Amino acid sequence: MVQYKIPVIPGDGIGPEIIAEGRKVLDTAGEVYGFDIEWIEYPHGADHYLKTGELLSEDTLKELSGYDAIYLGSVGDPRVPPGVLEQGILLAARFYFDQYINLRPVKLLKGVETPLKDKKSEDIDFVVVRENTEDLYIGAGGRALAGRSSGTAEIVRNLYQVKFDLDIETDADEIAYQIGLISKRGTERVIRYAFELARAQKKHLSSVDKANVMADIYGFWREIFTSVADEYPDVDTDFNFVDAICMWFVKNPEWFDVLVTPNMFGDIITDLGAMIQGGLGLAPGGNINPDGVSMFEPIHGSAPKHRGENKVNPIATIWAGAMLIEELGERDAAHAIVDAIEENLLDGRVKTYDLGGSSSTTDVGDDIAGRLHG
Ligand code: IPM
Ligand code: MN
Repeated sequence: MVQYKIPVIPGDGIGPEIIAEGRKVLDTAGEVYGFDIEWIEYPHGADHYLKTGELLSEDTLKELSGYDAIYLGSVGDPRVPPGVLEQGILLAARFYFDQYINLRPVKLLKGVETPLKDKKSEDIDFVVVRENTEDLYIGAGGRALAGRSSGTAEIVRNLYQVKFDLDIETDADEIAYQIGLISKRGTERVIRYAFELARAQKKHLSSVDKANVMADIYGFWREIFTSVADEYPDVDTDFNFVDAICMWFVKNPEWFDVLVTPNMFGDIITDLGAMIQGGLGLAPGGNINPDGVSMFEPIHGSAPKHRGENKVNPIATIWAGAMLIEELGERDAAHAIVDAIEENLLDGRVKTYDLGGSSSTTDVGDDIAGRLHG
């Protein structure tokens, strides 16, 4: 029997409840498809941070590098200032493991209602490849008061290091600034990944940017996209401004197959994507390093107000679990899980409140796991 060891970080809020259902379904898939998962639990999140002051330490990150994939619930808690857990755990892992792909399928499963009038499951079926380590997410910024001051920022990545030394002079009372950066290799690799995906599916690839305004950074993105496109003459491409993408997602989602986007715009358009696929409760994501440690999670947050209520939808997390085992090579099991999710939705009897039902988180996990036994 194949053995997998998977570190799991349930995290905050509803994280532990949804992760429990994800584990249940993956364990059941293992029984049916002949693999066994040993779960290695990590306590990281708000409670652990408040108790110990630790977010994700260098030691923990090193330990986690011994595995192929991490299963993450959600982080974020009102007892901790906004951003601390998100940056110290989620972004720390994305950057440390150089998970440069954030893969987010936007697929309206059968049996789910979309808020888009007259759109069907065949109309909403695409995948967003979001760059996941650069852009406005690098954490380089600061504030300055009137007069002369200095600022510094240092970015350390596997691919490169960058240091900004800023000499600031202003007569404004106070300013704040945030630097966005993309690198040639960092951009090439995510665009190439998206082209490979588009080619494998004989589909077209849409690039997202705002090159009409932020010409330096996204003009560079376009230039790199164009030069990578030369290697894929068989893939049709188009460029889109991010504001227009939001319009087309609503008006003509059937146009899209694969999209590739810088980090910040990818964050925004995938929440829109989640809504057109039926809601945040149904949207999974994978933070992928094709040659390293990847991490799978629902794209929604920790919904602290529902913590402990056994109420929220575990499907995004279960689907993220399917993406995880697919990454480990268990394709059949992964597809069977997505099929089981779809059967549950089509059947429509066991569903959580967000889908108009009154079943519990646990009920939905049990129902989906039960369908794997056929
Ligand atoms: C997401 C989330 C994160 C992001 C936050 C929690 C840092 O919104 O995964 O989309 O902005 O990437
Ligand atoms: Mn987001």
